[in-house]
Amino acid sequence: MSKLYKVAVCGATGAVGNQMIQCLEQRDFPVGELRLLASERSKGKKLTYKGEQIPVQVLDNGSFQGIDIALFSAGGGTSQDFAPVAAESGAVVVDNSSAWRMDPEVPLVVPEVNPGAVAGYTTKGIIANPNCSTIQMVVVLEPIHRAAGIERVVVSTYQAVSGTGQKAIVELENQLKALHEGREPEAKVYPQQIAWNLLPHIDVFKDNGYTKEEMKMVLETQKIMADDSIQVSATCVRVPVRYGHSEAVNLQTRDKLSAGDVREILSKAPGIKLVDDPANLVYPTPLMAAGQDLTMVGRIREDISQERGIDLFLVADNIRKGAATNAVQIAELLAEKYL
Ligand code: A2P
Repeated sequence: MSKLYKVAVCGATGAVGNQMIQCLEQRDFPVGELRLLASERSKGKKLTYKGEQIPVQVLDNGSFQGIDIALFSAGGGTSQDFAPVAAESGAVVVDNSSAWRMDPEVPLVVPEVNPGAVAGYTTKGIIANPNCSTIQMVVVLEPIHRAAGIERVVVSTYQAVSGTGQKAIVELENQLKALHEGREPEAKVYPQQIAWNLLPHIDVFKDNGYTKEEMKMVLETQKIMADDSIQVSATCVRVPVRYGHSEAVNLQTRDKLSAGDVREILSKAPGIKLVDDPANLVYPTPLMAAGQDLTMVGRIREDISQERGIDLFLVADNIRKGAATNAVQIAELLAEKYL
């Protein structure tokens, strides 16, 4: 019988943690024991895995004893404090927060792009899962970069509220209900109403005028693709969509590519589904991508404003490929090759 792994999910009651449990089940990860961890608030809760009710335990310093792989999605502060505790206990941490992503001793991994980087986990016992918007973008950039060299990327995102967590999904639903009933919508999670609106503001503003989310797309893309020469400029926008981040991407390549070349390259690349038949009104949408693990790409066209430019539109489920699926894929690489 193949080896079974003791797996912990830290933040199991959250939007991403819950999806991690489902991904482990759906992808039939060889789980011997599943330990579900959350805060005091979740004391007494049970979650279902393979038809079994598993009690949620309160996270503490002893939570990771005997654990082989710990999947974290409980916020940056919890990761900062407890990922080293888990690693010290002998677990390999796959962390979904931004706490460790730019640490030079922590690999930042998208399995379709840089699976070999997983080997670097031995230094700190931690592997970082990239930002959701970055993951789906680099899955598409990497094969194009290999074929023609990407010099510059300009990206605008349309990001679902689920990226902010369960509380933001509830806020959008409550605001829509209030508006429908003629009441004043209440904004607590976001600084302004998100229903019937959009906010060009994700994470905090930095001194250079970009937001932290936008700078994550710059720095994480360069780290994952191991090429600091790729220039990225991003505008990240929160939209009233539940699941699925969309991105309008404009690329400038070193070598000229036609739209047909890009379609051909992407049709053979891992983790991508081409959804590109404008004549029949076929293009990717968040509703189409929700619940899927593939990044969908369409609207591929040559940029009429520059010589070596390509425009395209891509969509992926931010909670699945943008978070839970990518983390479980990293766990699969660990199980296949390293543990
Ligand atoms: P809890 O449900 O007990 O608050 P989301 O991103 O959807 O808001 O979910 C965040 C997840 O992280 C939840 O599972 C939440 O647990 C967990 N979490 C947040 N803070 C802590 C903490 N200090 N210790 C343990 N788990 C935490």
